[in-house]
Amino acid sequence: MSRTIKLGVVGDPIDHSLSPKIHKLFAERANIEIEYLAYRVTSSNLENFIKNFFEGGGTGLNVTLPHKVDCLNSANDCSLIVKKIGAANTLSKIKRSNQIFADSTDGIGLIKGLYEARINELKSDILILGAGGAAQSIIHDLQDRRPRVIAIANRTKDKIKPIVNRFAPFEHDDLYPNTQVVDIETYLSEWDYQGFHTVINATSAREDSDFMWCESLPIESATNFYDLSYSSQEEITPFMRWARQQGKTSTGKIISDGFGMLIHQAAMSFEIWTGIKPDTTITKAELFYE
Ligand code: ATR
Repeated sequence: MSRTIKLGVVGDPIDHSLSPKIHKLFAERANIEIEYLAYRVTSSNLENFIKNFFEGGGTGLNVTLPHKVDCLNSANDCSLIVKKIGAANTLSKIKRSNQIFADSTDGIGLIKGLYEARINELKSDILILGAGGAAQSIIHDLQDRRPRVIAIANRTKDKIKPIVNRFAPFEHDDLYPNTQVVDIETYLSEWDYQGFHTVINATSAREDSDFMWCESLPIESATNFYDLSYSSQEEITPFMRWARQQGKTSTGKIISDGFGMLIHQAAMSFEIWTGIKPDTTITKAELFYE
């Protein structure tokens, strides 16, 4: 008889989380038994909770805000990406040693989300809006695709420099040019401006008007806009609404929310825990209305 795999997501708040529904769909389609629950846990109880979860037979735990950094105190080891970004969203129990391993699937989730939105030429210049945890969780995987340059713009400029320092170029051989991460001002003064191929919203801005500060940025000719946030079926996100108004025409522009990234980061966690690549063809209707 196959055993039910115990999984979950921990955060505070957690009511809004779609992860239980997504993983339930993955499991149904993969024909395996899982229990995936959402746990609301405060920061002061986090360490205890994680310890008890895994000692109580847990296999894997997603970690969401505000615990993505603090959960590392409970991990015995972590992936290279986690070392670089200093945050994780996936904890797993290593069977052989019973130790807890921390990983981050946000970056690869984004790359797959971009490809799914047909934003697949990632070799040119990319602009990231925002300099918080969400921005940091995606930079490494974008660098790994070797765009010419990644520029960062943020409402509060002081927050950009530490990120630029943290994401120094990889040490690849000559075959692969290192991708530099630079703040937008350095980009504009020191790089020959070639226009942004893709603008990624990693801010937590809630209104279209919150993007007014971006209007001094050279985004007229940007062709693709991807939002890490997602919306339900009838809505579009404030960033998407704002993006529609940028540039002269909307023809040929791709504007997408982060629903694809949401599904793909979850799929990577599911695969880490179960060894199964789940069927990711999940629609918004299935998640929001069923
Ligand atoms: P997260 O982990 O979701 O990235 P965070 O670390 O609090 O959350 O970062 C939020 C990001 O969204 C920051 O870049 C923040 O800009 P500031 O550093 O200037 O605060 C950005 N942000 C939040 N609200 C915003 C708004 N109304 N307009 C523009 N940027 C906003």
